[in-house]
Amino acid sequence: MNTYVTGGAIRQLREGRGMTQAELGAQIGVSSKTVSKWETAKGLPDITLLQPLAQALGVSVIELMNGQPIANRNVSANLLRGKFYVCPLCGNILQATGSALVSCCGVTLPPLEAEEADDDHALTIENVEDEHFLTVHHPMTKAHFISFAAFVTCDRVQLVKFYPEGDAQTRMQLRGRGSLYWYCNRHGLFRKKV
Ligand SMILES: [Fe+2]
Repeated sequence: MNTYVTGGAIRQLREGRGMTQAELGAQIGVSSKTVSKWETAKGLPDITLLQPLAQALGVSVIELMNGQPIANRNVSANLLRGKFYVCPLCGNILQATGSALVSCCGVTLPPLEAEEADDDHALTIENVEDEHFLTVHHPMTKAHFISFAAFVTCDRVQLVKFYPEGDAQTRMQLRGRGSLYWYCNRHGLFRKKV
């Protein structure tokens, strides 16, 4: 996240709403020239103008500061379209049913993009009674380890935390169609549809 609103963000949001500099200025009580100065980095809006500016641009102050409006089309909050966020500083794991502006330890976290596992992050599933035994074949040192595994269906999330020097193994009931996720602190998020 930017530490303060940027000219580029103001221009992008204003143009996205099809407003002229004069129209935006009129709504918040400044001239088009002032808006132009902000957008070309020749000045910054006073802090007392951030709220009215955000309102005129149809976003929250936090979106204005970030320069990116958040649009969730996932209104039914289908968990299958949810997002994982992991803090690189403290390892905090957050899960959302849609896009969000998430920050931890002062860092704005991007939604993690899952990829197919390579040979170094292979996961195996064995049937055990009515459950499944999952193993991620990966080192579990303090510096490089699998941090969690999760099974996500449209209405349920099972999340298991792993710890360095432990095993990246767990039992889970894989009921229904969904996606298995597992996360390596160095190599990111992996997914397998089941
Ligand atoms: Fe790894």
